[in-house]
Amino acid sequence: MKKIGMLTSGGDCQALNATMRGVVKGLCSNVDEIEIYGFYEGYKGLIYGNYRMLSSRDFSGILTKGGTILGSSRQPFKLMRVPDEDGLDKVEAMKHTYYKLNLDCLVILGGNGTQKTANLLREEGLNVIHLPKTIDNDIYGTDMTFGFQSAVDIATNVIDCIHTTADSHRRVFIVEIMGHKVGWLTLHAGIAGGADVILLPEIPYDIDKICNAIEQRSKAGKGFTILAVAEGAISKEDAMLSKKEYKKKLANRKQPAVSYEIAEKIRERTGMDIRVTVPGHMQRGGGPDPYDRVLSTRLGAAAAKQILKGKYGVMIGMVNGESKPVPLEEVAGKLKAVDPESSIIKEARDIGISFGD
Ligand code: F6P
Repeated sequence: MKKIGMLTSGGDCQALNATMRGVVKGLCSNVDEIEIYGFYEGYKGLIYGNYRMLSSRDFSGILTKGGTILGSSRQPFKLMRVPDEDGLDKVEAMKHTYYKLNLDCLVILGGNGTQKTANLLREEGLNVIHLPKTIDNDIYGTDMTFGFQSAVDIATNVIDCIHTTADSHRRVFIVEIMGHKVGWLTLHAGIAGGADVILLPEIPYDIDKICNAIEQRSKAGKGFTILAVAEGAISKEDAMLSKKEYKKKLANRKQPAVSYEIAEKIRERTGMDIRVTVPGHMQRGGGPDPYDRVLSTRLGAAAAKQILKGKYGVMIGMVNGESKPVPLEEVAGKLKAVDPESSIIKEARDIGISFGD
């Protein structure tokens, strides 16, 4: 008999359901009896004891279903030690729920912030297993997070659609792509969509270099230019600011997103007709693609195996094509960013993609 608590926390993504299904199927195939407690809206459910007992049937037919059957919410790690408005100690409340239900372990699906809280619960003595979700692919210790490839598909499709209209109207287009502080999603969708300029947070841009790349294309008879811009893209000047100064600058920004600021500067300098497309949360929507279905099924099954062994305190990552338990203490709090010197960047440069630097 195994008693498992499960929750999905932070921004949602494709394949959360597929991953939970993998865990439950992996367990059901190996133990006669399991009790599954599904906590609603991430850590909130664990804090306030808001849960439902689920059976293996609840996890059937959800492989292709987007979102999360448990709901999700953001519970910032930095506020976990801060009592709620009623003075409730959130960490103690989570421990209380865990011990009250006499759980063998908590299976926690989430991104970087979620992982930090999972590690905190581990330090507090709870048995936890973390599964790496996010469209941003920024979790240290795993080559791939589930949600990422499905989001790459969507963002690439946006660039494909923009391509045809940009070509007809001979316009410059910016497609702004999610990814938080890192550029994985923009890099992959940008290359897959044939973007001419790709701007990433990891490679600060020079606006004159971007304009130069656009003008070079015009001179070469190319009627349009597509820029794939990460939502966290940053100019060389802004990269020199302290974290605090940059945060302040962002708070005072007039435009709703970085792409509009870049578009304005390009328009001023080149006089070109330029449009901005921001697909936003569409990139997290819908069901998982086949890649993510395979990845999440494998990670889920590997998590079940770990539970059966009773070995906790790990994230189940994918390393060189193999699922692998990675100690949470080695990865929590670390960010996986794009290496500007990596071969993918070099190869993109080799085919003429400009990174605006
Ligand atoms: O971490 C996933 C992500 O979609 C990021 O790419 C994006 O910056 C952020 O979440 C958006 O957060 P929210 O859903 O809270 O607006």
